[in-house]
Amino acid sequence: MTDIDTSAIFAPTVINLHAVKNRLSVAPMTRISATQDGRATERMTRYYERFARGGFGTVITEGIYTDQAFSQGYIHQPGMTDLAQAESWKPVVSSLKAHGTLAIAQLMHAGAISQGNRFRDNTMGPSPVRPKGEQMTFYHGKDRYALPAAMTEAQIGDAINGFAESAGRAIEVAGFDAIEIHGANGYLLDQFLTEYANNRTDRWGGATESRVRLILETFKAVRARVGAQVPVGIRLSQGKVNDYQHKWAGAERDAEIIFGSLADAGADFIHLIEFEAWQPAFAENGPSLMRLAQRYAPRAAILANGSLHNIERAAAALNDGADIITIGRGALANPDLPRRLSDRGVLNDFDPSILGPIADVKETELAM
Ligand SMILES: Cc1cc2nc3c(=O)[nH]c(=O)nc-3n(C[C@H](O)[C@H](O)[C@H](O)COP(=O)(O)O)c2cc1C
Repeated sequence: MTDIDTSAIFAPTVINLHAVKNRLSVAPMTRISATQDGRATERMTRYYERFARGGFGTVITEGIYTDQAFSQGYIHQPGMTDLAQAESWKPVVSSLKAHGTLAIAQLMHAGAISQGNRFRDNTMGPSPVRPKGEQMTFYHGKDRYALPAAMTEAQIGDAINGFAESAGRAIEVAGFDAIEIHGANGYLLDQFLTEYANNRTDRWGGATESRVRLILETFKAVRARVGAQVPVGIRLSQGKVNDYQHKWAGAERDAEIIFGSLADAGADFIHLIEFEAWQPAFAENGPSLMRLAQRYAPRAAILANGSLHNIERAAAALNDGADIITIGRGALANPDLPRRLSDRGVLNDFDPSILGPIADVKETELAM
């Protein structure tokens, strides 16, 4: 391993008055390992605890569904929709906190790309547009996505309310430190942001300023529910699980509108995914998405994600506008990645068989 200065990676920071012991976070990863009725399990506690023991300053949970209508995306996905689900997260959260790790709950509504919802057989989205791509087989999906129905004004209100109430339960019952609203990867909030998925002519569709409205209204409702002291942030991406190549059509002007409006709303952090976080977001040689977020939302902490498990890349991202690096596949391969980096140890390569053929957490993985 090259002799690179790791001090920036291990420097503490603060998000909305909450101490974060270093700049390494586990990225949210769905592992469909909850009970059929959406409660976190003892195996999930052991799975998450390994990352905290391994030195991660922050752990962001997998996407947790937010209501008992249309939000659930996957069979065996965990939820935060009632007291039993919220209480089931308590052991997970206390095991993270025991290691001084910041515990962030990611709240997610799958919208039109739901492929396994025990409450409903049909799906909802901004517009009746069949999602691109195919369902994910390692989450028990098969074939095309269903054609969604367009959400009514009342259903949009219910979805927002689901996020707010779930955030309240996550903080007050489960004990999480912070909330991440999943606005990325092609799920409901990203469907509203995406021109080709959102043909609405009401206040939720049209120009970027209108397509970002659901993200902003969700943020405001969550903020109102949990209060000013709880860190609340948003995860955003250009690509999607069912459309990797997508780019925001308005390029940097869209970035300015989206990041600027989140800054105005008071987002404590913005969490960005790019396949390779350091690449120009739009034009060749242009700024990365993390750099643009820092420019247009200068007071928000920037969490950067995308192929950053390599120590040189992580250090470079901290120089390029990021405050925290989030790591997905590299953390699955190395639950103790922070310790390995600080000891200058060798990292395991990610082995996709960890996730196949079904992506649930297995005892063999926990024994690694
Ligand atoms: C198995 C798996 C499950 C994922 N589930 C989620 C999820 O629930 N929420 C989310 O925002 N991103 C999810 N992601 C995306 C990761 O958070 C991350 O953006 C992606 O793995 C790229 O980061 P990496 O290059 O460090 O792996 C998932 C990724 C993987 C590999």
